Parts: sequence; structure tokens; C-alpha cells
Amino acid sequence: MARHVLVAGGAGFIGSLTAQALLDRGDRVTIVDDLSTGSKDVIPQGAAFHEASIGDEVAMTTLLSSADIDACICFAGFIAAGESMSDPGKYFVNNVGATTVLLEALAKAQVQQFVFSSSAAVYGEPLFTPMTETHPTAPTSVYGETKLMVERVLSWMASRGAMRYVALRYFNAAGALEGHREAHQPETHLIPLALAAAKGERPALQVFGTDYPTPDGTCIRDYIHVSDLARAHLAALDVLASGTTELVCNLGTSQGYSVREVISAIEEVTGLSVPHELTSRRPGDPAELVASCDLARDVLGWVPTRSALHDIIRDAWHASSGTTN
Ligand code: UFG
Repeated sequence: MARHVLVAGGAGFIGSLTAQALLDRGDRVTIVDDLSTGSKDVIPQGAAFHEASIGDEVAMTTLLSSADIDACICFAGFIAAGESMSDPGKYFVNNVGATTVLLEALAKAQVQQFVFSSSAAVYGEPLFTPMTETHPTAPTSVYGETKLMVERVLSWMASRGAMRYVALRYFNAAGALEGHREAHQPETHLIPLALAAAKGERPALQVFGTDYPTPDGTCIRDYIHVSDLARAHLAALDVLASGTTELVCNLGTSQGYSVREVISAIEEVTGLSVPHELTSRRPGDPAELVASCDLARDVLGWVPTRSALHDIIRDAWHASSGTTN
């Protein structure tokens, strides 16, 4: 049955792709975004748009009283783990404070289905890998702490009957779809920075740390294609519609790659060399983050289909070169 979904942060990379996927399957979409990091250009045709912060209580209450919203997906938030360590207050105010304002406005409007963009950053250093959702949570970055705090808010709200939710713990979102690609200002993510360095558009890539307890000394991450992420949000809405109260679920591939392996894969895909220099660790980076994805498969019926590393890089490369995938 078609629903009306509020997509908070829908002018961003993953939010806009998910909004498009919702429209494609016949749902109605209203996007709210303050454009602090997003862009009007990526808002899909057919979506209603309100420029506002999710932390603006009056704006959220007004919006929810005027639109007949069934469910909300929240992508709105700052995402740079490194920046969160130098500017922690910014992350607590926006990621925790503003999201809580939105949640309270939703609860008051009786909109009680919420899908939250959480993160693998809630886990911190792995005690075992791949990490299941039961792995202890001990974030090593302020960013991860903010995601965990919102998960706690959601859990309390669910236990009081105020909200039903799915928290999706993304591992490393990457790739591109139909010309949409990561374009953060400033860019901090490995694959877009490495591609830009290969093209000579940026200085040499800095490899942050070569003394991690991993086979080649660089950090290992689990890269997941944005199109697979977008599909998972639709599945999360479906389980909420069928009565799920509370679900916390990893989204990854169960396959990890080191920074050096990503650089090699980029060189293979592009035929260019990636100029890079070895530098010291970036504060807040855990050595290895690799997901167990059994729960997503069993409960959401979700498996990644486009997340082979070379496919992710190829799509990102084509999008950065102006050719769509
Ligand atoms: N890296 C470099 N040089 C760079 C940028 C990154 O060596 O210029 C390294 C990082 O140290 C890390 C890896 O590449 O080991 C990936 O870094 P990203 O910045 O691309 O991504 P993060 O792993 O820091 O964070 C991302 C998301 C988070 C999420 C996390 C979970 O931004 O939201 O993945 O895996 F929590």
C-alpha cells in the first residue's frame, strides 16, 4: 500500500537516492532538509520539499500538522568522524539534539514509524569480527557516540509506546547511482578522495595510519553500495508497517578491505595510479569494521547485490567522470 514518507535529510547523497526509490515504488515523499550539507539539485522530481532544520520544533510541528505523514526516514546528520573529534558540540547539538526534536514532533503527531541512519561507528574497536548487532558498543568517535545516543532515545521511546523504529547501522556507504555520487564539503571519505587524487584533481591521498593490527597495517572497512543501502530503507519501512516494534540491524557485506586494497582496486578499475603518502593515524578510527549481515538477510530479506568492491569503485569512477552507471 502506498504511503507518505517524510525523508529528513533527503537532499543528501543517500537520502535523495532513497527518496527516488520510494517514488519509484509508488510512495509519496516529502523531504525536509536545511541544505547545510545537502543540495536542492539532488531532490527527486515528484517529492515535496521543505527547507527547514529537523531541530526547528515549530517548523516540524507545522509540517506534521499539515501533511498526512505515515512514516519517517531520518538521514539528517553530520557524518565526519574526524571532524566530530575536533568539534564535538556541533555533533551533539545536531545529531542528538535536533533528531530528538524531530522524534518528539513525530510522536506528538502520532507518526510512530521511524527508520534511523545509524552507523557501524557505534561499535568502536572490534572484539570479534564480523560484528553482529550484539557486539558491545563503545564508540571511539563523538560521531559514533551521537548515533548510539539516538538509538538509546529510540529504544526508550519504543519501550514507552511512543515510537516504533528500525536503526540501520551502515558500514561504509560508497559507490554512486545514476550520476549521484558522494560530494561532501569538505570531502573526507576514502574512495572519492582517492579517485580525485588519481585524476590529479587533489593532492596525494594521505593514508591515515600504517601501524594498525591488520595484515597490511592499514584500516579495514566494509564498503556497501548506496543502491543497496537505499533498498534496505524500503525493507525497513515494510517491517515497521507489518508491526515490528524495535529493530537494530547492520548493513554491510561481511567482506572487509584495507585502505591499501582499496587503492589497488582503484588503480585496477581506473588504470591510473593513486598518488599517496603514508601518514599518522586519524583520531577516532577503529582498526577494522566488518559487518555480520545475517540479521538484515533474515529479518529484512535484504542482501547486497551491487556491493562488490570493483563495482562500487566503477560506479563512483563513472559518476565522478560525468558518465552515469
Ligand atoms: N582514510 C584514509 N585517508 C583519507 C580518508 C580516509 O586513509 O583521506 C581511511 C580512514 O582512516 C579509514 C578508511 O580510509 O580507515 C575509511 O575512511 P572514511 O573516512 O571513508 O570512512 P570512515 O570509516 O571513517 O567512516 C565511514 C562513515 C561513518 C561510518 C563508518 C563505519 O563516514 O559514518 O564509515 O564504517 F560510521
